[in-house]
Amino acid sequence: MNKKRHLILPILLSGLLLSGCNQKTDEKSSASSSTETSVRSEPVGTPVNIDPVLAKKGEELYNQNCVFCHQADAIGKPGFAPSLTNKEFLSVSSDKFLLGTIRDGRPGTGMPPFSHLGRSQVEAIVAFLRAHSKEANISAIVDAQPDAHGDPRLGKLWFDQICSTCHGFDGDGYSAGSTGTAIGKAGFLNKVSDGFIRHTIVNGRTDTRMLGFSGPAAMANLTDKEIDDIISYLRTVPSKD
Ligand code: HEC
Ligand code: HEC
Repeated sequence: MNKKRHLILPILLSGLLLSGCNQKTDEKSSASSSTETSVRSEPVGTPVNIDPVLAKKGEELYNQNCVFCHQADAIGKPGFAPSLTNKEFLSVSSDKFLLGTIRDGRPGTGMPPFSHLGRSQVEAIVAFLRAHSKEANISAIVDAQPDAHGDPRLGKLWFDQICSTCHGFDGDGYSAGSTGTAIGKAGFLNKVSDGFIRHTIVNGRTDTRMLGFSGPAAMANLTDKEIDDIISYLRTVPSKD
């Protein structure tokens, strides 16, 4: 099985490099549908207003409940817990997503549920996290993006060759000894829109190993079609939680 992978990898990677070059010469807009502009250009979003008293209370609760894993100032620790103050993460996350993820945790990962804290305490923690925001909140715009209608079989090829290196096969995440989170598990997939996943793949997350798959700093340049293939594949990964 490993031998086979070694043969496929160079072929796919050269394909990747080629498609990256093509995009530079070939105007992106000419080859693509109208969704590309809305998906790739940065939306304006809503400014973030924080109640400082609530955020202060949230900081105490954070230090009691979360700091052990997510670290001081929620900067995260690779392979252990993700950053919660990363600017792309905060800007793309809705309150619903944050509240729900903290309440329910992510079954089958190291993220425990905190439903015992009750809604108002979890809201205070979210206010503390939001106080680190450097960008407007674009979650409403990103969540309104169209769902992916890609080819899951092609998506699996891309996923196995590129994403599994950090997210584990089937997106098992840290439990598979990986540095990326469990993006193949229901605890993540059931709470995010295809737009959230798409935006994260395109833009990555600054100061983490998730560099993004578009532009000069990209790990590789994936087309919109390839990204939607990957999202469609993720939606078919059987939940093992
Ligand atoms: C070099 C390692 C690496 C590669 C390759 C990589 N990722 Fe990531 N990814 C990460 C890390 C690390 C994070 C979490 C960053 C953090 O700490 O906030 C992440 C986060 C994400 C998230 C957000 C998950 C969450 O829990 O909110 C998505 C979605 C994602 N990656 C998709 C992908 C896809 C799809 C691919 C392949 C096209 C990919 N990644 C390739 C390292 C990687
Ligand atoms: C025992 C360790 C641990 C504790 C304690 C913990 N977390 Fe987590 N958290 C994790 C791990 C591990 C993940 C990533 C799970 C995965 O692979 O999807 C995570 C993921 C998250 C995510 C999703 C991040 C993303 O990139 O999508 C949020 C939000 C979060 N945690 C908030 C909190 C908050 C708030 C607290 C405290 C109330 C907390 N966590 C306590 C380990 C922990």
